[in-house]
Order: sequence, then C-alpha cells, then structure tokens
Amino acid sequence: MFAARQVFATAQRRAFSASARQATKVAVLGASGGIGQPLSLLLKLNPRVTELALYDIRLAPGVAADVGHINTKSKVTGYDQTPSALRECLTGAEIVIIPAGVPRKPGMTRDDLFNTNASIVRDLAKACAEHAPEANICVIANPVNSTVPITAEVFKARGVYNPKRLFGVTTLDVVRASRFISEIKNNDPANENITVIGGHSGVTIVPLLSQSGYSLDGQALDDFTRRVQFGGDEVVQAKAGAGSATLSMAMAGARFAESLLKASQGEKGVIEPTFVDSPLFKDRGCDYFSTNVELGPNGVEKIHPIGKVTPYEQKLVDACVEDLAKNIKKGVAWAKENP
Ligand code: NAD
Ligand code: LMR
Repeated sequence: MFAARQVFATAQRRAFSASARQATKVAVLGASGGIGQPLSLLLKLNPRVTELALYDIRLAPGVAADVGHINTKSKVTGYDQTPSALRECLTGAEIVIIPAGVPRKPGMTRDDLFNTNASIVRDLAKACAEHAPEANICVIANPVNSTVPITAEVFKARGVYNPKRLFGVTTLDVVRASRFISEIKNNDPANENITVIGGHSGVTIVPLLSQSGYSLDGQALDDFTRRVQFGGDEVVQAKAGAGSATLSMAMAGARFAESLLKASQGEKGVIEPTFVDSPLFKDRGCDYFSTNVELGPNGVEKIHPIGKVTPYEQKLVDACVEDLAKNIKKGVAWAKENP
C-alpha cells in the first residue's frame, strides 16, 4: 500500500514538473463578467497555467488582485483600458478565451445579441490577430454560430488565419446532455459523454444519443432533445433578466482550456466537441461545424465525421444545417461590411 502510494506521488510530481516546465500563458478577454470571474478562478487552480492575463473594460485589476491571492504558482495580471493593455495582455498567450459580450434576457434568442456582440468580438479579434496571431482562440461570446466566422474573417483579412487554432466553445452542450441523460438513466453524469454536434443555438444543437448506446423513444426522446437544444433558455428564464449560464459555462470553458493544454503538452487522444472550420458540411453552406475534434500541439489534429445516425437524428442534422448556414453567412457578410 505504502509503495503504491509512493509510486503515485512520484508520478504526480513528474506529471506536474513536466507541465510546469512549459510556460503557458492564458488570456481571458471579458474576465470580470459572470463567466469571466469563475473561469479565471478555475484557470488559477489549473497547474498547467503558469500565467493568467485578465482583460476587461471594467474591474479586471480588481479581479486579478483577488484571484491572484490564491496559493497556486501562476502569476495573475489584470489589464484595464489603458492603450497598451490589450497588447500586453495578449503578447505570448498560448490560449485566448473570449467571453466578452452581453448575455441574453428572457424572450431573446442568441441571434438577438448579434448587433451588440459582433463588434465587441470583431475588435477583440483584431487585437488577437495583431498581438497573438498564433494563439488558440476560444470564442464563448454569443451568437457563437456567427462570432466564430466573424473572428475568422478578421484573421483572414490580416493574412494570419489558421483554421486549426480557432474554436467556438460548445462544451456546455455536451456537459448539459451528459447531466440530463444521467437524470433519466440514474447514472453518474461524470461518466457520460453524449455526442453533440452542429452549432450553439436552438435547433443547431444536435445531440446524438444513439452513439452513446442509449435509446429513448417517442416523447422521452423529443423531451431530451429539446432540453439539450434549449437548455440555455432554462437558465435565462430562471435568472429572470440577470443574465444567462455563467457557472456551468465557466466549468465548460475551463474543461476546454484544460483539453487544449493537455494536447499541446503532448497528451494523445484528447477529444472535445468544438465549432471549427470543418469540411463536413461546406457543400451545404456551413464552413464551420461542431463535431468531436481530436486536439494536438497544433490545435485541431483531426475532425471526426458525424458518424452513424438514426433517421430521427438525420432530421435534426438537416434542420441544423439549414439554420446554421444562415447564421454563418450573416457573420461573414457583417464582418466583410464592417472590417
Ligand atoms: P456578463 O455581462 O456578465 O460579462 C461580460 C463581460 O464582458 C463584462 O464584464 C463586460 O465588461 C465585458 N466586456 C464587454 N465588452 C467588452 C470589451 N469590448 N472588451 C472586454 N470586455 C468586454 O456576461 P456573461 O454572462 O459573462 O456572458 C458573456 C457572453 O458569453 C454572452 O455573450 C453570453 O451569451 C455568452 N455565453 C456563451 C456560452 C457558450 O456556451 N458558448 C454560454 C454562456 C454564455
Ligand atoms: C448557454 O447555452 O447557456 C449560452 O449560450 C447562453 C444562452 O444565451 O443561453
């Protein structure tokens, strides 16, 4: 027993020193918000992160001072709106996470956020293209189906677009699907990993329950599907005007960042669903699509196909593609008209 514990402790030390040897700066843009604060907290607890750069148009130095007192090794710096703030925040970042933007209120769709968030994301993407063109850019700000294409257009216009390093964060949909199925099946949700593909709003979110070996029928399947597709609305309604999912999103964002870090530090077989530049539905107008993606040191390593689907799921995919193509087109057109 003692020997086994010693072996485990040595392995842990080795794993930690292996990751600690690599300097990893993570920047959060929108770090003082409902997502930004708990996300920054979770990143501060991650031993793979050696430097945390927190930027927001308000409160970021305060958030950084607070998070910075936590007794883990990483250095935390807060950046406000001084002219050099974004440059200093972004320079040397391996990962940039963008939750900056307004959240929904009851009765709104994610697309209703477009007018406000498109320009916020465009301006931050410009700064990333200039100061961190090789970083992994993780877009959380909604509508993800359009803010990812907007970010891509900004990078393309500056000649620094790398499709392997731009990610729309759709992890929350998988987290929710895993939780919701476990409530039905009475399983441990930590062991569930339901495939969810498509985009990140309403019918563009497509859970593929059959791929996890489950079969629900009739109303139960409709209810599960709808709950995954509209899980965000449950939170928006429950918060009654005070915003949307923040804590579960912070967990999902931290999980995605951890997966990117594991993969960049040499771990094989790291797979996350994410909304990326994908060949799968380009012929139907979707230059970006979320499926399971294997991550590696260069970002996207391998985009998995959607795999085998039931006729029920195929109908969901068709509805998804139709809507998603419009969201993507809207983002691309706006970015070209508003460079
Ligand atoms: P919030 O209003 O609590 O926080 C947003 C933060 O962004 C604020 O601190 C604000 O000051 C900051 N900000 C605004 N403009 C900025 C700019 N130009 N530069 C830097 N910071 C700026 O909102 P929230 O609840 O944290 O949600 C943020 C976004 O994330 C929303 O668009 C929401 O819809 C989206 N979201 C996405 C997912 C997902 O699964 N991808 C999940 C939940 C929320
Ligand atoms: C979510 O899925 O919770 C987020 O996209 C926020 C929202 O507006 O629902």
